[in-house]
Amino acid sequence: MPTITWSDDLAIDDSQIDFQHRQLLDTIGDIEDALAAGDQRRVAEAMPFLRQYTLTHFADEERALQLIGWPQLDAHRELHRGFTQRLTELDGACRRGDLTAGTMLLGFLAAWLAGHIRGADREFAAEVRKLRQRK
Ligand SMILES: [Fe+2]
Ligand SMILES: [Fe+2]
Repeated sequence: MPTITWSDDLAIDDSQIDFQHRQLLDTIGDIEDALAAGDQRRVAEAMPFLRQYTLTHFADEERALQLIGWPQLDAHRELHRGFTQRLTELDGACRRGDLTAGTMLLGFLAAWLAGHIRGADREFAAEVRKLRQRK
């Protein structure tokens, strides 16, 4: 049972974004379990999904921010870009067999994602909800 799990206090009450955040945290939880079990094959299988899903989520979120005319879109995009870059670095280190990289990767993923969801993502939640209601 992973320590990194979704909890309702992470919800920003937008069904698409919450669903994607939940998928991301579930995947990180799977990676945590696999690392704890020393199952490198499972880690290697989960990482491409995590990287791809992260890109999908960030693109969907940035599209929603564009639609609402979010003034901090560029800054938010930069946050996403920084995360993607660090994820690539740590994934590379893991694949090179750096034993500490797995732990660093998990710590980074969990802290960044929870912090980002509770902070920057929550700030635009009300505006995105209004946008979805207009549809
Ligand atoms: Fe975001
Ligand atoms: Fe997000």
